[in-house]
Amino acid sequence: MFAARIPVLLLLLAAGLAVAGAGCRGRESGRVIKLAHGLDVTHSVHRGMVRLGELLAAKSSGRLRVEVYANGQLGSERECLELVQLGGLGMTKVSSSVLEGFAPEFKVFGLPYLFRDAAHRQAVFDGPLGREILAAPERKFLRGVCYYDAGSRSFYTKKPVRTPADLRGLKIRVQESPMAFALIRAFGASATPIAFGELYTALQQGVVDGAENNPPSFHLARHYEVCRFYTLNEHTSVPDVLVVGTDLWNRLTAEERRWLQEAAEESAVYQRGLWAESEAASLAAVQAAGVEVIRPDRAAFYTAAAALRESVRDDPVIGPLARRIGEVRP
Ligand code: GCU
Repeated sequence: MFAARIPVLLLLLAAGLAVAGAGCRGRESGRVIKLAHGLDVTHSVHRGMVRLGELLAAKSSGRLRVEVYANGQLGSERECLELVQLGGLGMTKVSSSVLEGFAPEFKVFGLPYLFRDAAHRQAVFDGPLGREILAAPERKFLRGVCYYDAGSRSFYTKKPVRTPADLRGLKIRVQESPMAFALIRAFGASATPIAFGELYTALQQGVVDGAENNPPSFHLARHYEVCRFYTLNEHTSVPDVLVVGTDLWNRLTAEERRWLQEAAEESAVYQRGLWAESEAASLAAVQAAGVEVIRPDRAAFYTAAAALRESVRDDPVIGPLARRIGEVRP
């Protein structure tokens, strides 16, 4: 499914995408940084990136501009990361889960029930540990710039899921992420990796019985039209990550890097301010459209996922990071 699209992207790249979007290039009115992602234009994370562009243009007096390509126009998250690595795209915004394939440090965010609450996760993203993890994919020519809040992920399915036992035997879509795969297996379901942009059709055609995501993505990608049950078990709180290619980063002056970093961090604060309201609005919208929102006993899901948390305790990368996250106090 993923492989089939890559030749198309390479063709596009050869045929001019690289020129039109070479991360950063001369134009009459400043240099343009292309930024691609897979979310809808009404999503708070998209709005955060639009704000990033405004802030960067203001700080640089128009010398640096950002062009945002939403809705997976330039490919899946993994494909966008590969384009950024090649220098054919300046920046992308992906889920931290997809970065696991580029830096294992990101796996820690895929652990179930890792954070005590929203304040805890924000303290981790804003603190030294969050920055350390952002820097991890540099060896793969990628640099994390900031985190955007993606709340918590919960199951949505065609049949109601009220307890972990209801997941047994279901085919659940996962991101391209070893941790997501392991988590679904821990719940007794079978995991099928599918790119976000292909998920609506996959649900419709019965390739999978359900998926999991935060309320805005469930709502704005219209997956609720196919999955009429949403179980708020909130198993993971995987952040979104803004990524710049080291190819582009290394060509920026020290001052331009500072502008970009500051603009990104300010845009993340702005997006975070939109999150709670957007989550509530999406829940209300799917309910109004007839989706049954189930509020299960979260403790049962916590217990069902215990073996996965145990299994990474001795992992040389994830174990120490998970312990350090546990020690962070907001
Ligand atoms: C979240 C995240 C997206 C990601 C999606 C997914 O919505 O914000 O970046 O694509 O999950 O499940 O693939």
